[in-house]
Amino acid sequence: MRKWWKWILYAGSVMMLIGSASFTIYCAWKVYAYHQPGERETEAHENNAYHFVLVPEELDNDYWRLVEKGAKAAAKETGVHLEYVGPRQANIDEHIHILEKAAASKVDGIMTQGLTEKEFTPVINRIIEKNIPVVTIDTDAPTSKRTAYIGTDNYYAGFIAGKALAEDMHGKANVAIITGSLTASHQKLRVQGFKDAVKNEKGIRIIAIEESNITRIQAAEKAYSILNKHPEVNAFYGTSALDAIGIAKVIEQFHREKETYIIGFDTLPETIHYLRKGTIHATVVQEPYEMGYQAVKAMVDIIKGNDVPSVTNTETKVIRKQDLPLRPARNYEVKHD
Ligand code: BGC
Repeated sequence: MRKWWKWILYAGSVMMLIGSASFTIYCAWKVYAYHQPGERETEAHENNAYHFVLVPEELDNDYWRLVEKGAKAAAKETGVHLEYVGPRQANIDEHIHILEKAAASKVDGIMTQGLTEKEFTPVINRIIEKNIPVVTIDTDAPTSKRTAYIGTDNYYAGFIAGKALAEDMHGKANVAIITGSLTASHQKLRVQGFKDAVKNEKGIRIIAIEESNITRIQAAEKAYSILNKHPEVNAFYGTSALDAIGIAKVIEQFHREKETYIIGFDTLPETIHYLRKGTIHATVVQEPYEMGYQAVKAMVDIIKGNDVPSVTNTETKVIRKQDLPLRPARNYEVKHD
């Protein structure tokens, strides 16, 4: 009788042991399965090894939304975690502060502009010293230790704008320039390139140059005051994405579409609208989508130790109404989430 009980107790303990072992295995599998929900997500998780930050001059600017769109497409393809953070309105101090914060949080790579040599070169160098690669986009910081630049050749872009205006106005125009900033290096280069392109044109005079702080409202205000002060102005050159849009609004208010020529920058939906209408006559095409896309791809290569050219100039050309529509559309369509 005692032996019989002993056997029952023994069998019971063995079964309990097997039961609890299976339960432990089951739970472990569940935890594993929770972290590994499917092959594709596993892949994304593994590839999401890199965390990049893209810091634009102005967060909600349609031009920068296109850069973000391209960067996101490349981030998706390469499994990079991409953060897009920047000032709500263009502001150099805030821009620098965001860069410093990104560097302090030890991200794997930073993409931004080199807006002014004085402010941006030191911050870029400090980031590089922390072993975080920096890819400048849209505006280079050539005297800094940045790892690479991807974007427009801004002097050339200004130069072709000047040549286009001279050609379209048959060498005779009283020009007003509205620039995003009188101190940002890419805007200065766009103005310089333009001036050099028209310097031998005896009939072209530059009457005024004003700053818009890259907003369409200030571009409109400046165009308004220029027209009041200098009614002889019959051509405008806007050097940042929203300048020609602001100028076009004022020209329509003044009903001066017929006698005023406008050349601007970029191909935002509003620019294309005015180009189709004939209020804007020409615009310099940049490739913001490509800049974002190529910058992320280059950053991945840099981290992997592959060679990346120190300067990659994206395409720049002047287009007029007859060159529409632009292709591929995804490079020019801005969608707000
Ligand atoms: C410039 C950008 C700028 C944007 C402002 C573009 O033409 O390339 O640097 O932030 O205009 O709207």
